[in-house]
Amino acid sequence: MNQRPVDLLIRGASELATPLGSTARVGRELGALRIVPRGAVAVDAGRIVAAGPEEELARDHAPRATLDAEGGTLVPGFVDAHTHPIFATTREDEFELRTRGATYAEIAAAGGGILSTTRGVRAASREELEGRLVRHLDRFLELGTTTVEAKTGYGLSLEAELKCLEVLASVRARHAVDLVPTFLGAHDFPEEYRADKQAYVDLLVREMLPRVARDRLAEYCDVFTEGIAFSLEQSRRILGTARELGLGLRLHVDQLTPLGGAELAAELGAASADHLEHVSERGIEALAARGVVAVLCPVVPLFLRQEREAPGRRMVDAGVPIAISTDFNPGSCYLQSMSEVISWAALRYRLSAAECLTAATLNAACSLGRGAQTGSLEPGKRADVLVLDVPNHRHLAYELGRNPVRHVVRGGRVAFSRAVVR
Ligand code: NIG
Ligand code: FE
Repeated sequence: MNQRPVDLLIRGASELATPLGSTARVGRELGALRIVPRGAVAVDAGRIVAAGPEEELARDHAPRATLDAEGGTLVPGFVDAHTHPIFATTREDEFELRTRGATYAEIAAAGGGILSTTRGVRAASREELEGRLVRHLDRFLELGTTTVEAKTGYGLSLEAELKCLEVLASVRARHAVDLVPTFLGAHDFPEEYRADKQAYVDLLVREMLPRVARDRLAEYCDVFTEGIAFSLEQSRRILGTARELGLGLRLHVDQLTPLGGAELAAELGAASADHLEHVSERGIEALAARGVVAVLCPVVPLFLRQEREAPGRRMVDAGVPIAISTDFNPGSCYLQSMSEVISWAALRYRLSAAECLTAATLNAACSLGRGAQTGSLEPGKRADVLVLDVPNHRHLAYELGRNPVRHVVRGGRVAFSRAVVR
């Protein structure tokens, strides 16, 4: 019998669980996983060549190496579609102020918030920012995240934003995590433009965005559309320019107040509309009609001690493609674990573990234009595979507060293995 030689066979699993396809799953399809008891994955030249019952894969392939899953579960590498990982200082003081009753907007108005992180980033050297970013990415990888969208947004000047984008480009070229760079110069108005906000929008549109696009430093442009940040009109102008320059669009919308940001994201045909705690019914319908991915951040309201959360179940039932993410940043969510996000999305949005897994892999990849490359365990896709120390995929939602990741295979290479004490 002819056996195909392959680089790696991941075997010994109790279950393989994966969404299917290269487009975002909606409605009932969100939870339609392929589940293979005792499933295995064959990998060659960095790609998946087969995923299915171990018996068949072992019969048909001659692996040069094997990875023993020891009764664990195989799922696609997590895709975190919304993070802010480039910063130099942390804000545990604000966390404590909130436990004593202060709100996010009050802290920002008092000079804390985004602008406090901006002071740290402006003062930091490139080397320091690189070192910190690498440490954050190492942690993402340990936690099973193989693709990370990374926003700037704590520089807020041409010079400091370029510094952050160049740090991203340099780390991207040498780290195992696949980084997707997003320019978020419109995260807040910096101190020196507080009295003339229009002038900062002009700077973004006339100087910053053209430079970012010319030097191909970002794939996406994001805006914080909010009462305390950029208005609908300002957001429309910034994002319209970004689109003309060839950048994809992402938006922070309807997070703290209902501004109609979801409707704007749909109008612009954005790749994603993120947060959405205050989304309106019209906004939900508009996102569904345009197929804009709603990137939800279930731990953020908890971290900010906000009552209101995004209507996750309602959006799924209305046909909005949803993804789930950490929103990792020093202010509103110091969290990097996608397995934790899966648990909280299940509990807060009333989603099944299967729905959460699709939202944390394939749908997140689709929101980043990477649905054909990663997000599922299927032949032809990049071999981004997790070996989890759980008996089935349902434990991903069920178990809180533990990193279930045993091995991370990224592009066919074992990029992380947990040290085991026996
Ligand atoms: O996604 N909402 C705006 N931006 C971040 C928070 C940034 C910060 O507080 O540093 C967010 O929640
Ligand atoms: Fe964010």
